[in-house]
Amino acid sequence: MDGWRTIIEPFRIHAVEPIRLTTRVERARAVEAAGYNLFNVHAEDVLIDLLTDSGTGAMSRDQWAAIQHGDESYAGSPSWYAFLESVQALFPFKHVIPTHQGRAAEKILFSVIGGPGKVIPNNTHFDTTRANVEATGAEAVDFVIAEGREPATVHPFKGNMDIDALDRLLAERAADVPVVFVTITNNSGGGQPVSLRNLRAVRAVCDRYGVPLFLDGCRFAENAWFIHEREEGQSGRSVIDIVRDFAALADGMTMSAKKDGLANIGGWLAMNDDALAEKCRTLLILTEGFVTYGGLAGRDLEAIAQGLREVVDEDYLRYRIRSTAYLGDALDAAGIPIVLPVGGHAVYIDARAMLAHIPPLEYPGQALAVALYVEGGIRGCEIGTVMFGRHPDGSETPAAMDLVRLAIPRRTYTQSHVDYVIEVVRAVGARAADLRGYRIASEPAALRHFTARFIPLV
Ligand code: F0G
Repeated sequence: MDGWRTIIEPFRIHAVEPIRLTTRVERARAVEAAGYNLFNVHAEDVLIDLLTDSGTGAMSRDQWAAIQHGDESYAGSPSWYAFLESVQALFPFKHVIPTHQGRAAEKILFSVIGGPGKVIPNNTHFDTTRANVEATGAEAVDFVIAEGREPATVHPFKGNMDIDALDRLLAERAADVPVVFVTITNNSGGGQPVSLRNLRAVRAVCDRYGVPLFLDGCRFAENAWFIHEREEGQSGRSVIDIVRDFAALADGMTMSAKKDGLANIGGWLAMNDDALAEKCRTLLILTEGFVTYGGLAGRDLEAIAQGLREVVDEDYLRYRIRSTAYLGDALDAAGIPIVLPVGGHAVYIDARAMLAHIPPLEYPGQALAVALYVEGGIRGCEIGTVMFGRHPDGSETPAAMDLVRLAIPRRTYTQSHVDYVIEVVRAVGARAADLRGYRIASEPAALRHFTARFIPLV
């Protein structure tokens, strides 16, 4: 892009959605009524919604046009074949099983291969993945490299798996490990990529012990772009070829098309193993739908088929990764502690470092997320002790990190929206010492971050 500093979004805006402007007083009232849980706030009361990059992106003209081709036949719809062709062009697994979103694919897979006594390693399980593993009685273990647990340590592939830790587990318990998972990019660890070289090493360990390797592919295109940019010998290769290398190293995958499918809903489960596929399809029919639509309408399948063609466009990926880095670099320059280097889909503020006076069990991430909302109407997401601190046995311990994630929806906000976010975060940073922690007033037995209610400490 000829070295200009201003980010050119590689699209023009074709339809607009209004953003409702609110005052500080209105927002303070809204968050109190929500029990200080931002999942509980009305989206209309949010100015810039960075809660998630999942399903919140803008679809393209060509995706909306594809939706008009949606064929709602129960079995064998042409929309199913369009979806299948698009998925297999990138991930040529023998069996592709459509699901309504990523967690449905996880639920089906782990219901078949999980269970008490089993253990599933991953670089870092995302919350729904961990919950779906644990719901079967299996154990979920995270083996990201040490650098991946240190917010301030710079490493080009902080999502990489710790190969020695994986090897040790498999040497002891290979018979209890039905699958090894690698999440690309590593969401819970900061949206950090996994290198091709690391995935090859994981594959070699899996082969040694005869254990299959699956990808959690939610942000596969962003991961491939980082490889294209950072990994030795990869800069001359196309993103599509890098994605296909990933697919060739794996035996299957789960996917949320709400991320790098550029769609508002959808996902899939894919694999090469015939017997496993048959068991998964049986469960699919019980809970999701027939094997050629899963939980989706024909029009959703069309939107994903087109989204998968757009997401590997290199102009799009360059803009995407650069605009996330633009936010992160500005916060870093302003002295706000963030996970470095900046990940693909989000900037993660290190709330534990920024609010060092609030102990982890008073939820510094929650305190920061609420402050960003009240100050400027920005909705981020705590990824820390609220999300991960409560264990199946009822005990509570601090999570590895207390982060606030500012996730960037795809193709949705402009550089001036991001400039506003930078201004608000800086303002909150300037009065960080005044912020106080929270205690939990009520919480459910699992996945408490979605529905817990909080009380501010004074
Ligand atoms: N795996 C990863 C790495 C994810 O980030 C998500 C969702 C899922 C699986 C589940 O997919 O939402 O389609 O059921 N992450 C969203 C987020 C919710 O905000 O990061 P899903």
